Amino acid sequence: MPQNDDVMVPRPVRDSQSEMTEIVLPNDANPLNNLLGGRLMHWIDMAGAMAAHRHSRNYVVTAAIDHLDFWVPVHVGDLVILRSSVNRVFHTSMEVGVKVVVENYIVDTSEHVSSAYLTFVAVDAGGRHLPVPAVVPETPEEQRRYDDAGRRRDLRRTELERRRRNQAR
Ligand SMILES: CC(C)(COP(=O)(O)OP(=O)(O)OC[C@H]1O[C@@H](n2cnc3c(N)ncnc32)[C@H](O)[C@@H]1OP(=O)(O)O)[C@@H](O)C(=O)NCCC(=O)NCCS
Repeated sequence: MPQNDDVMVPRPVRDSQSEMTEIVLPNDANPLNNLLGGRLMHWIDMAGAMAAHRHSRNYVVTAAIDHLDFWVPVHVGDLVILRSSVNRVFHTSMEVGVKVVVENYIVDTSEHVSSAYLTFVAVDAGGRHLPVPAVVPETPEEQRRYDDAGRRRDLRRTELERRRRNQAR
């Protein structure tokens, strides 16, 4: 898709903010009625892609998902809320953060389940990489995430190079 000037105008983080809510059903769970980690990973990917699409206004592919911790179990009947936004844009790639919270509406609790960082690459219909407009942090929290994303990118690149070297052996 040709890039015009408007497409490359920097956009605030808030333009990419997305929220997705799922209710955990038996088909999402293991025999102990706890949410499957793989199902949550799928939802994280979807929530992350929403923010990446909104920001880049293009197709995107998931290039990488960083290390994930699952802090608390999620049970059948719980509500899972996934909030995502673009933390930082590099050139054709962008880091998206997804925060996952579980709510139990019977006992009125809310707990942090996981925080994930995903890298998406913008592509056209033929799969060619496209430049992504810059993202503008407007709050101290968004600025912190922007700064942290730069540090994480350096770590990712070092680690990727190490893996590529090992693969070539
Ligand atoms: C991700 C993909 C587009 C990267 O393409 P590539 O030609 O190997 O990568 P390049 O070296 O040209 O890098 C393109 C961008 O992706 C980033 N990137 C590539 N691999 C990455 C990784 N493992 N982690 C984070 N970023 C990565 C690069 O830093 C670069 O970013 P920049 O333009 O902002 O500087 C390509 O490997 C791909 O299509 N993978 C499959 C994606 C997919 O199908 N995902 C769904 C799950 S299967």
